[in-house]
Amino acid sequence: MLGRSIALSTFLLALGAAAPASPPAALDVENVTHSLNVSSCPGYALESLRETNTGLTAALSLVGPACNAFGRDITNLTIEVTYETITRLHVKIYDTDEQQFSIPESVISRPQAPTSALRNSSDLEFHYDTLPFAFWITRRSEPDAFPLFDTRLASLPSTPIPPNNATDNSTAFDGFPLVFEDQYLQLTSALPLDANVYGLGEAVSSSGLRRDVSQNGTIQTFWARDIQDPLDENVYGSHPIYLEHRYNQTTQKSQSHGVFLLSSSGADVLLRTPPSSNVSLVQYRMLGGILDFYLFSGPSPKSVVEQYGALIGLPTWQPAWGFGFHLCRWGYLDINETRAQVDNMRAANIPLEVMWNDIDVFHSLRDFTSDPVSFPGDEMRVFIQNLTKNHQHYIPILDAAVAKQVNSTDLYYPYIEGAKQDVFMENPDGTEYVGQVWPGYTVFPDWFANNTQQWWTQGLKNWSDSGVEYSGIWLDMNEASSFCDGSCGSNANLSITPPQVLPGDPGDLITDYPEGYNSTLSGPSGNITVNGTSTYVRRAVEVAPPLNRRGVGAGKQSGVDLNTPPYAIHNGFGRLSIHTIAPNATHAGGYAELDVHNMWGLMEEKTTHKALSDILPGKRPFIISRSTFASSGKWTGHWLGDNFSKWEYMRLSIQGILQFQIFQIPFVGADTCGFIGNTDEELCNRWMQLSAFTPFYRNHNQRGAISQEPYRWDSVANASRTAISIRYSLLPYWYTLVVEQFLIGSDILVTPVLTPNASTVDGVFPGRGNVTWRDWYTHNVLNTTSGGNVTLSAPLGHINVHIRDGSVILTHSEPAYTIEETRQGPYSLLVSQTSDGHVFGTAYIDDGISSPPGPSKTLAFSVTAGQVKITAHGAFDVKQKLQVITVLGTKKPTVVKMGGESKDGWEYIEAQEKLVVKGINLDLNEDATIVWKSDV
Ligand SMILES: *[C@@H]1O[C@H](CO)[C@@H](O)[C@H](O)[C@H]1NC(C)=O
Ligand SMILES: *[C@@H]1O[C@H](CO)[C@@H](O)[C@H](O)[C@H]1NC(C)=O
Ligand SMILES: *[C@@H]1O[C@H](CO)[C@@H](O)[C@H](O)[C@H]1NC(C)=O
Ligand SMILES: *[C@@H]1O[C@H](CO)[C@@H](O)[C@H](O)[C@H]1NC(C)=O
Ligand SMILES: *[C@@H]1O[C@H](CO)[C@@H](O)[C@H](O)[C@H]1NC(C)=O
Ligand SMILES: *[C@@H]1O[C@H](CO)[C@@H](O)[C@H](O)[C@H]1NC(C)=O
Repeated sequence: MLGRSIALSTFLLALGAAAPASPPAALDVENVTHSLNVSSCPGYALESLRETNTGLTAALSLVGPACNAFGRDITNLTIEVTYETITRLHVKIYDTDEQQFSIPESVISRPQAPTSALRNSSDLEFHYDTLPFAFWITRRSEPDAFPLFDTRLASLPSTPIPPNNATDNSTAFDGFPLVFEDQYLQLTSALPLDANVYGLGEAVSSSGLRRDVSQNGTIQTFWARDIQDPLDENVYGSHPIYLEHRYNQTTQKSQSHGVFLLSSSGADVLLRTPPSSNVSLVQYRMLGGILDFYLFSGPSPKSVVEQYGALIGLPTWQPAWGFGFHLCRWGYLDINETRAQVDNMRAANIPLEVMWNDIDVFHSLRDFTSDPVSFPGDEMRVFIQNLTKNHQHYIPILDAAVAKQVNSTDLYYPYIEGAKQDVFMENPDGTEYVGQVWPGYTVFPDWFANNTQQWWTQGLKNWSDSGVEYSGIWLDMNEASSFCDGSCGSNANLSITPPQVLPGDPGDLITDYPEGYNSTLSGPSGNITVNGTSTYVRRAVEVAPPLNRRGVGAGKQSGVDLNTPPYAIHNGFGRLSIHTIAPNATHAGGYAELDVHNMWGLMEEKTTHKALSDILPGKRPFIISRSTFASSGKWTGHWLGDNFSKWEYMRLSIQGILQFQIFQIPFVGADTCGFIGNTDEELCNRWMQLSAFTPFYRNHNQRGAISQEPYRWDSVANASRTAISIRYSLLPYWYTLVVEQFLIGSDILVTPVLTPNASTVDGVFPGRGNVTWRDWYTHNVLNTTSGGNVTLSAPLGHINVHIRDGSVILTHSEPAYTIEETRQGPYSLLVSQTSDGHVFGTAYIDDGISSPPGPSKTLAFSVTAGQVKITAHGAFDVKQKLQVITVLGTKKPTVVKMGGESKDGWEYIEAQEKLVVKGINLDLNEDATIVWKSDV
């Protein structure tokens, strides 16, 4: 959609800090000479330079004895520098023999080579030293300013960093520019002292969206990981891009640029400031692959994000209904309980757009099945068809791992077919790789295998045909999660099935009081109820001896240690194999899991997106997925994973949502009211209101915790109805824009309450007093003259929303129960004038469902003092009329005219300088002008 790339505001919420202990990780130094200090590494010399008008190519040769710090130094490298567009520079350093892994074009396609000579016109300039080789990149317009990227660091001292293991005394090696080994790559660039760096995730960042670059700063590890949202560790997704924002005191100019490393390698990226240093640093430490950097010149934050999107691909189109309210929990144990939620939401008159089921829906917890007793297919079909009749939708979960059939009488066709079609990952010896997830022992789809797409599509189609007529799919556990440490072993061990306890079962009851719950005041039992027992049986975790066979291609390199690379990244679990697929498991084409682990989720998303395009032809595939990688936004939206029902996690959800705007996955949201643990009324009230202003809006709860659907408490029901009504009236605006920081677009500012027992909230209003902010509900002008915090009234159930002057927003006049019913109602236009009266805005409208998108209508609203001019472009037929125009900040008119004719039915309210013109009945397919005059 228009404006799918998102601007970040420089106005950022400061989020609190809490440093977790450094987790242990294993370090296997086996047969690699392990100096633990690369300052003895010789570096490279640049030779055989060939310059072209699109860039340059040269050889880089190791200039001394190999240091073999955490692998073997590669003697011959090639550097290619390409000015790809005016705003994008590509710097690629790879082993000349091309044995190292690099991301195949089949996974992430790259733009065509540039045809025009941009070397002398690009915004960016590449510079280099030949011996030792180092490079730096500047803005052409500011050759003398601090470079945007600079690897000339020879004079810096080495300093210790917190070790990832007691036996790992590795120092930061700040002093050396380039190490390129088969199992270890290191590159360091200087940043201005205390630089403003955003991105590098996925992270639950304790320092907020801006990353910590202080002394010990940030160690952002890239290794996709199934873990309940810890602070500052590696979690589900990998996005090695950052945006840096600089303010130049001399020129008083603010500019941003972006740096993207196109690599799926397990890695640490460090942001830090050595003691007494006058610069900060970003340092890349990778377990393999190549150095494949892209720089984006910005210069606005928004343009950096757009330039990143132009490289990796823009986000997928979302269906309009995706912006509705979604309800889910783990623990709707049967169809009756699921249906009851739909009925209860309707009875409470709280809009419900999409009903979800978690793994409860499965038969024996197996993918592509529904339980014949608790979710029978014929009843599911009727249930979902009734939802469809009411313009509502249904979404089930799909787990990454596929149950392995271990019993010859219990036939499970998705496994049988998959095995026949050779679509599962393998051990290095060519046998089936077996892990363990909810259904017991499992295998894992190999997205590189030829038949996987067809097999996956068939599984999804059969499931829909069996009665589960979903509108979209939820992809979970796709890091990919597995409960064995590495392989669960060979077939011989697969018969042991001791029971496992799930949350909510006896033995794992969720009995903790909600945060802040006062049992003295409210009684010992409070409102905690615990769900019934479960019949689920999970199989035992067995620890099999690790498979240590070497030499199976990490890319094409041989003799590398796949399972325990010599450099131990700061993986929060320790060894790479813990709670996931072993790094030495293999994919078709000889790819080792070590090299492609971080892209597992991306490849599943791409395959699922194609499957849904086939199964629901002509409709936009709707997918929400947990593990993401660069370019995932092309295929999926995202939720922030397993958060906690705590005030802190409501607050942290804001930085999480904003991060994903940088990552070009704008359709994102948190589990509203919290997933893990027991929520409470006040938290759920505030959170339902906050999430109404985030792109993906879903309440999701854990099995066994107290219920948290918005109808459970009157105050939460009221708060939800209020916020959803605003959300649905703003649908045309969302749809035009998706989202921007916590300024939604540049026009709407939300100031949520993030603490308990509050009746006011402090907000900062951008614009340094030159911008007029008006209250969404009353249209009163906010007094911001103090320049600092403004204290706003915020009783429970009220979320502060303000609109800025200079905005013109198309809204739905009658927010209804569903998105479709809302869309069938009339439009309104809300104009907030600047003092000189000039305002410009647009709105994008289409049918909200077609894929590829069909005809559309773009409306341009141009407001000058006393006039709104509407111009319509595009073939889409907008059936609904514009009925009301509200203009804020205007003088009282004596006459209002439309199409040259005087118009009755307007009123003026002095207190808000507000003109409301009703009964307009304007056809939005045609141009129109509305004029009001005070002097006629
Ligand atoms: C560090 O790694 C070594 C070797 O893998 C292991 O024996 C040791 O227990 C680890 N130490 C800690 C503190 O985790
Ligand atoms: C490491 O080297 C030792 C001695 O050369 C050898 O016995 C051992 O097999 C080697 N280990 C591996 C994993 O290659
Ligand atoms: C590196 O390149 C040089 C020059 O082409 C060649 O002579 C040498 O054998 C190469 N070294 C390796 C280890 O490939
Ligand atoms: C600020 O901009 C001026 C003019 O381009 C430049 O000379 C100066 O070095 C810049 N300052 C920094 C810290 O980059
Ligand atoms: C940084 O880490 C080092 C080593 O762990 C520690 O001694 C030092 O106190 C830390 N510095 C700060 C500012 O936290
Ligand atoms: C790291 O330092 C500790 C403490 O100084 C020492 O005991 C240990 O042997 C060192 N480990 C290595 C691998 O050098």
